[in-house]
Amino acid sequence: GTEKDIDSSKITVQLTKNPKKKKEDPNEYGFGKYMSDHMLEIDYIDKKFTVPRIVPFHDFPVHPATSVIHYGITAFEGMKAYKDSEGKIRLFRPMKNMKRFLKSARRLCLPDFNPEELLKCIEKLVMIEKDWVPEKKGFAAYIRPIIMGTDQFLGLKPASKYKIFVIISPVGSYYSDGMKGIRLFAQNEYLRSWVGGTGGNKLGGNYAPTLLPTLKGFEKECKSVLFLDKEGKVTEAGAMNCMVIWENENNERELITPSLEDNTILPGITRDSILKLAKESGQFDKVTEGDITINQLVKAHNENRLFEIFGCGTAAIVSPVLGFKYEGKTYDFAKDGKLGEFTLYLYDTILSIQHGEIEHQWSHLIEE
Ligand code: PLP
Ligand code: COI
Repeated sequence: GTEKDIDSSKITVQLTKNPKKKKEDPNEYGFGKYMSDHMLEIDYIDKKFTVPRIVPFHDFPVHPATSVIHYGITAFEGMKAYKDSEGKIRLFRPMKNMKRFLKSARRLCLPDFNPEELLKCIEKLVMIEKDWVPEKKGFAAYIRPIIMGTDQFLGLKPASKYKIFVIISPVGSYYSDGMKGIRLFAQNEYLRSWVGGTGGNKLGGNYAPTLLPTLKGFEKECKSVLFLDKEGKVTEAGAMNCMVIWENENNERELITPSLEDNTILPGITRDSILKLAKESGQFDKVTEGDITINQLVKAHNENRLFEIFGCGTAAIVSPVLGFKYEGKTYDFAKDGKLGEFTLYLYDTILSIQHGEIEHQWSHLIEE
């Protein structure tokens, strides 16, 4: 950091005079509907960052030529704050989100910021909002850092002005009945990402085009899309990384997920954590980052060696999959809707680490 960079030590705080009422029953929060009382704002103007400020949650006035609304110059993050049994607030591997945020910003030609300093500002916001973090396991305060180009100019050029802001939303489960398991609509008419594209960056522009195939999936009673590439390789499940547990063609019990090599897959922090937990579990002959084709999935299903599929991500945590639909056929592998054992083990283990029930270096306690 230079003196032009984000400086968390100078942060200013203006508290709201009208705090909102919190729900007694966190089940009423759903996902992403309610916002907390304050937000963090930092602007980049004249080649330097303003003093970070925590202010009451508020609307922005938007100049109609603002670059973000024309050209989608925006990237975001998703992380959560969890309450432990002592009421302390914990984040989960937060520097990984900060570094991914920086990588996304660079892809959009937005000048670098200091990720450690941004995290300190976010921690300060979270502590001001700590009463918004529900106490119940499985609930959290979703933290949404976002960055956007704010030039008021219709030409297409890298942003010379931008805004970082962070909002917080108390949340429960992402899918309304998520732990019942979902079905995936496997298709490659619409791609989420491609080699040379930006699938490996968390850019706003990656998400809007996924809505149309998602709606097509809803028509087929699938809650999420299994995005395949043009060769039929599995990429991601909606806004989640996708993992498969099967007996592979060499008769090995394997947990496999697409590799990050060609920047088509979002490098999920849940994904990374699960790969480590799977290796440590000793339950697999192999834990692999590599190719899975839809034809291999169909074949494994037909030969009864497809055991579990799940999606994983901050919002959805671990989302069990019951089956998939592909080219008009349904491939259900979960017997009588029974959820996968390892899927459930992961859901429980990740949550227990996040809530500080299992002592783990991934759980980051915020100092009071
Ligand atoms: N894949 C996509 C496309 C996502 O948007 C997300 C969510 O951030 C993930 C995967 C999961 O990443 P993480 O585990 O870091 O939340
Ligand atoms: C996540 O944070 O896990 C996401 O996938 C973001 C989602 C709400 C679009």
